Amino acid sequence: MEDNLNPLFLLSPPEGLTIRLVTLADLPQVAHVARITWDATYNQTIAPENRREFLERSYRPENLADAVDAPGHWFYVAELKQEVVGFGHFLQRYHPTQRRAELVRLYVLPEYQHEGIGTAILKTGFAALAEAHMQQCFVSVQASNTPARKFYEGHGFVFHQNHGQFLGTQIVIMAEYTRPISAKDLEV
Ligand SMILES: CC(C)(COP(=O)(O)OP(=O)(O)OC[C@H]1O[C@@H](n2cnc3c(N)ncnc32)[C@H](O)[C@@H]1OP(=O)(O)O)[C@@H](O)C(=O)NCCC(=O)NCCS
Repeated sequence: MEDNLNPLFLLSPPEGLTIRLVTLADLPQVAHVARITWDATYNQTIAPENRREFLERSYRPENLADAVDAPGHWFYVAELKQEVVGFGHFLQRYHPTQRRAELVRLYVLPEYQHEGIGTAILKTGFAALAEAHMQQCFVSVQASNTPARKFYEGHGFVFHQNHGQFLGTQIVIMAEYTRPISAKDLEV
């Protein structure tokens, strides 16, 4: 029995870690985390000019401001010693019959990865989605990003399909995953 225990659920995140909703004042730090983590994650797969252009547009504070403290958004930062070390952003997506949300961003600074921070953000988000009676969460991850895929699979996401997505001058293949949200997710 003990052989089957998943370390993901045994290890606790670093002491002093806080997961809280993002504020407008955090947005420059969020952009900083995105820049560092994108460069470390996608340096082999996304051309530098496409990365730069995407980050510049998507993480400009005025372009993120609408997601701060807004209905249908659950946007969290992970803070350690007053520094933002990661963030995760879930948002409600329209669906005619199902209450669905998408995890649109999840990034943890490279030197803080594998310490349970991503898991802590995910669990906080799932609890909020359950509280809001969401039934399903989906996420799209670059198909070649094996570590992130393993991470999501370890957290109950099931592969659905691949799709291509334009990113500047290139097309990236994204793997789409879905996960049911249930009352069990209320227990963070
Ligand atoms: C994917 C990502 C968000 C996960 O966040 P994380 O903080 O590294 O995740 P966790 O630490 O909770 O879990 C990651 C691994 O660390 C292990 N782990 C968890 N808690 C741990 C702890 N306290 N000590 C050591 N290892 C731990 C887990 O077993 C897990 O292993 P696995 O990935 O082999 O299953 C993060 O690695 C990241 O930002 N990656 C680059 C960007 C990216 O790919 N984002 C996803 C885009 S869709």
